[in-house]
Amino acid sequence: MQQPKRYLITSALPYANGYKHIGHLAGAYLPADTYVRYLRAQQRDVVFVCGSDEHGTAIPIQATRENTTPRAIIDKYHEICRQNFEDLGISFDIYHRTSEQLHHETSQEFFTYLNDRGEFQVFEGEQYYDEEAKTFLADRYIKGTCPNCGFTNAFGDQCERCGKTLSPEELINPVSTLSGNTPVKRTTKHWYLPLDKHEPFLRKWILEDHANDWKINVLGQCKSWIDGGLLPRAVTRDLDWGIKVPLPDADGKVLYVWFDAPIGYISATKKWGINANRDWEPYWYDNETKLVHFIGKDNIVFHSIIFPVMLHLHGNILPSMVAGNEFMNLEGDKMSTSRNWKIDMQDYIDDFVKKENGGEQTVDMLRYYLTQIAPESKDSEFTWKGFQDAVNSELVSVFANFINRAMVLMHKLTNGKVPRLHEDLLDDKDRNMLGEFIKAKQTIEDSIENFRFREGLFEVIELSRKGNRYMQEKEPWILAKNLGTNPENQKLIDNCIHICLQLSANLAIFINPWLPSTAKKMLHMFKVVDKMLLWENAGKAKLLSPGYNLREPALLFRKIEDDEIKYQIEKLKNNSKPVSGSAPEEKPETKKTELKPEIVYDDFAKISMFTGKILTAAKVKKADKLLQLEIDLGFEKRTILSGIAEHFQPEAIIGQQVVVVANLAPRKMKGIESNGMILMAENSEGKLFFVQPVGEVAPGSSVS
Ligand code: 2FM
Ligand code: ZN
Repeated sequence: MQQPKRYLITSALPYANGYKHIGHLAGAYLPADTYVRYLRAQQRDVVFVCGSDEHGTAIPIQATRENTTPRAIIDKYHEICRQNFEDLGISFDIYHRTSEQLHHETSQEFFTYLNDRGEFQVFEGEQYYDEEAKTFLADRYIKGTCPNCGFTNAFGDQCERCGKTLSPEELINPVSTLSGNTPVKRTTKHWYLPLDKHEPFLRKWILEDHANDWKINVLGQCKSWIDGGLLPRAVTRDLDWGIKVPLPDADGKVLYVWFDAPIGYISATKKWGINANRDWEPYWYDNETKLVHFIGKDNIVFHSIIFPVMLHLHGNILPSMVAGNEFMNLEGDKMSTSRNWKIDMQDYIDDFVKKENGGEQTVDMLRYYLTQIAPESKDSEFTWKGFQDAVNSELVSVFANFINRAMVLMHKLTNGKVPRLHEDLLDDKDRNMLGEFIKAKQTIEDSIENFRFREGLFEVIELSRKGNRYMQEKEPWILAKNLGTNPENQKLIDNCIHICLQLSANLAIFINPWLPSTAKKMLHMFKVVDKMLLWENAGKAKLLSPGYNLREPALLFRKIEDDEIKYQIEKLKNNSKPVSGSAPEEKPETKKTELKPEIVYDDFAKISMFTGKILTAAKVKKADKLLQLEIDLGFEKRTILSGIAEHFQPEAIIGQQVVVVANLAPRKMKGIESNGMILMAENSEGKLFFVQPVGEVAPGSSVS
């Protein structure tokens, strides 16, 4: 495949309304940074943009909470987020703001361009209005009782207790959060983007052109949306915080935040162009640009359906890849800002990075663990114990240990200099080890180019593991003991240490996209310049010149102690809070554990169960409880109807592993044939959980 001429990489613009947590970091920022650092090492033309999303109701709501103005909120959190990213080594070329004039103008021009060409439809409709506050109410400004679970503090767009997506009309006893009064319905007019008109374009572009190169979770969400029927989407709101709709008959209306925020990628690129004195336009108009969006799961539809339609109509290029990650859970539960069940980037920086001794290493420790557990294809889980294990038993005991041993041996056995290679004495083990550099280069490149960052990092650690094994087999310290009787041994020692040092230099290049400060530290030990980290040097076994004096080894990583993680776990538990709002009065009756009559093994053996993966999920018309699932069983794909629609949003379960009873007789419901059953567990409160294997298992693996 031909290489793109240039790359534009974007990370979701975080709302400047609060601290961002490490789940955000793992989803949209760290993988993007790894990718960009790799592209830069390849000397490709790449621009990496991000910035603050400073509109939408999230901002004034936070201002009310903090008893200040929206402006003060965005100024405060923009700076905090910008600094957090910088502290954690996220290397944006520009961190812009959507409150900047340049962004307002860019968004208004965009809107006008589409409006002038008749791409919007204008509809009048009824919306809740607060008569005391004299304003229409955005969904988040209305609270009421959730029709699904009875939670009394549900928002107009979602219930925070059961997770169900709502519209304000569905709330029982709606109340305005501004005045506490019951809102009334009033007529208002809005501009809509008719997504339905663009269904053929979306079907072809996503489901045909990208059927093989986009991630399954992204494709699954898109398919669910498209199959579920696309509707016109309002791109304006009645609010006084945001970008004014640039039309004479649109007083009091602003652009919907999800209309202006992605345009923020364009205005950020413009700003970068101005700062760097570079032409920004090819990055958005030339087809030879590869545009890649890195985002979390909840942003997938905006980046793969709505924004692409906008770009298409505006004459821009489309994203080549929407790298949408799943969610990262924390210590057995969903990360949540409202329940304070999270680890903010700021917390980690304060507790680890800013510590005087060895603080700087902890940035890379976090980057390492977050990549190792990246939710690339399914939700994953951060635990402090997992963090400690990853650092202590991989970074410290494998990677750093290898580099340290190579350096120490060089100082002990070859006078602190890179020894020369005696080619005539190379044996198979030496040659194999040298061959591993080249192989690793190929695999790591392939992983990164295909957005499999976990796999790539795994390969780097594997390579250092091989280095340790090689050193162990060669035992240069034993050879050194017999130097008196066998002076020729020195040449064998030289060969081993030479190879270990060249491998160490390669490891610096390989680890650089993920752990940049570690790579830098290694360069310092080797006394070489930054240029050595260029990817073209990877796989070479002549990076450090024989006779060259190297520095003393520096400690790359310290261990994470038990009391550090104990403290963190307690802190997390002590600071967490329940979701406010009363739960329904009557508690669901606890189900009694009831055993069915005994069966013999042969009864059980009649059931064929396999692991599967949910490819698509969609609501079934006129059936509140049913979801229609398409399941990949490895050997075939199946349609299965499952009564879980009240518990899960279809787009949230794409990519989940499931266990399927595959030989259940087909059953027709609502005109659709269901071919099997997926297994679920139900807790005492009636909450459903997928029964799943603990690790990732290929679809079609048998379960018994
Ligand atoms: O979910 C969010 O945090 C949004 N602020 C992301 C916006 S991404 C892009 F469109 F700017
Ligand atoms: Zn609810």
